[in-house]
Order: sequence, then structure tokens, then C-alpha cells
Amino acid sequence: MQLDGRAVKSCTALAVQADGSTVRTVENLAPDASTLHPLQAAFVEHHGLQCGFCTPGMLMAALDLLEHNAAPSDDEIRAAIHGNFCRCTGYQSIVTSIRDGAARMRGEPGTNWYGEPLHEA
Ligand code: FES
Repeated sequence: MQLDGRAVKSCTALAVQADGSTVRTVENLAPDASTLHPLQAAFVEHHGLQCGFCTPGMLMAALDLLEHNAAPSDDEIRAAIHGNFCRCTGYQSIVTSIRDGAARMRGEPGTNWYGEPLHEA
């Protein structure tokens, strides 16, 4: 989740720490019930998925990064999500998803697995 626009681990944040803060969770990322946020769409496209606890954490950590750095390098992406690593999976699909989500959030068509820009059909 995000407190005042910065990602925090909801599993270690006390409710009292959120008192007076703006709280943003994955549940309000999408603009409406039928449209995914560009970052969510990129995660779906590239299978940047983990379990139901980790995927929201990855999305909110990635959103924090992209709201402060619209075009991060892969190293910057990996540094931004390092607090969400677990032993269950690899992370290349998530890095690819975030790189693509960054492009979509900039209003570009997105990127493929290799980071190459997609062209509108
Ligand atoms: S994918 Fe969630 S604990 Fe590993």
C-alpha cells in the first residue's frame, strides 16, 4: 500500500501509523470496474504475477517508483521492488511488466519482453 504517496509494507505497518495519512491500495488503482490501470494491464500482458499478497505489493512499489521516475532503468526497477522479493518465483516477468507499464503510463504503446517499443497497429 502507499501512505502519502510512498510504498510501505502493509504487513508491518500499524493502523495508527496511517492516522491522518492518505492511504492508497491496489483496490483503487483501476480507474473504473472495467478498465485496468496501465501498470495492471502490463502485469497481465507479461504475466508479472505472484501470489495474492505479493502481486499487490509489487504493483504499489512499482507505482511509487514510476510516479517518481517515469523512465527507470532495469536496475532501478529491481532496486525499487527488492523489498517485495520472496523465494517463490523469479522476477524477470515483473521487471518486464514494470518497464512496459512505465511506457504505457507515459502514454506510449508499451514495450515487448526485450524492452523494445511497440508500435500502434
Ligand atoms: S509469491 Fe507471494 S509469498 Fe511468494
